[in-house]
Amino acid sequence: MQRIFSGIQPSGIPTLGNYLGAIRNWVALQQDHECLFCVVDLHAITTWQDPATLRAATRELAASIIACGIDPRAHVLFHQSAVHAHVRLSWIFNCVARLGWLNRMTQFKDKAGKDREQVSSGLYVYPNLMAADIHAYHATRVPVGDDQRQHLELANDIGQKFNHDFGVEFFPVIEPLILGPAARVMSLRDGSKKMSKSDPSDQSRINLTDDADTIAAKIRRARTDPEPLPHEPQGLEGRPEARNLVGIMAALLDQDAAAVLREHGGKGFSAFKESLAALVVEKLEPIAAETRRLLADPGTLDSILRDGAARAAAIADPIVAEAERLVGFLKV
Ligand code: AMP
Ligand code: TRP
Repeated sequence: MQRIFSGIQPSGIPTLGNYLGAIRNWVALQQDHECLFCVVDLHAITTWQDPATLRAATRELAASIIACGIDPRAHVLFHQSAVHAHVRLSWIFNCVARLGWLNRMTQFKDKAGKDREQVSSGLYVYPNLMAADIHAYHATRVPVGDDQRQHLELANDIGQKFNHDFGVEFFPVIEPLILGPAARVMSLRDGSKKMSKSDPSDQSRINLTDDADTIAAKIRRARTDPEPLPHEPQGLEGRPEARNLVGIMAALLDQDAAAVLREHGGKGFSAFKESLAALVVEKLEPIAAETRRLLADPGTLDSILRDGAARAAAIADPIVAEAERLVGFLKV
């Protein structure tokens, strides 16, 4: 059975983009994989996080992952800072990855923007830590949204360079799993930006904890163009906002855009948005309710995370100890 690893940052409330691009696919993969799912708090602090907010967001994210359908007993759910193997291996990888490789990372360029001199050095080596997350478990399949493809290529470059430098076949090749029609859900305010939990505008995203009225209002106000919906997917060309809303509906119904347009083609956006809002509410309401129920009992939630961290460490510690031995660290 192949081992899956994936991670998500506790840098805010998870969005519909995280659900459709990531967590929903994780739920399906549980059937026939051994899975590790990680709340990556070490990654989150590459940009400023208020400490109390970070602690709360770590619990909230763990609760929503379980509420989406992840089974923390059959699989492993934990937070990254609780397993030291990640940091140990990431230091080794900082010394394996080349500056030239990191300089090509588009997510760093996007996140650093014009302010490159002022961002943390952690943001720069973020992809090395992500490579360590995966390789510390010898995981071979990594489900992510489309935006993470380049980081996974880098993780493979790092694993292969380590193998080459030390003359071993130690780290396996990782296969990215970029699944589903909604691998990239876009902002409701700007069809060229991805929906993100760290976007300053709350109107740009649907949070997994939004109530029905908030969801309906955000969809009603979502940016669109004045044309009615086309009858075929080709008609979405050059209409990123329309494409995004159709894509969200298709993903939630497990259909493709063509099927959605067969039903809704020719309609104006106000009618389409009403149908979409009802569908999003129907799918997210039970998740929000279950998240609230789990958060009402933080003791149980913490014990799930503690147990997950112990099981994660039992897998990662021997692998990272072997990597350290290969590097030449004296074990006494
Ligand atoms: P992050 O929110 O950056 O921690 O991302 C966690 C996971 O959600 C990753 O697999 C991302 O690729 C995925 N993801 C984040 N935002 C989106 C989005 N707008 N559309 C699709 N997938 C997303
Ligand atoms: N960088 C990923 C993101 O922002 C999150 C992440 C961290 C991750 N470590 C990972 C994803 C390991 C997959 C595997 O989306």
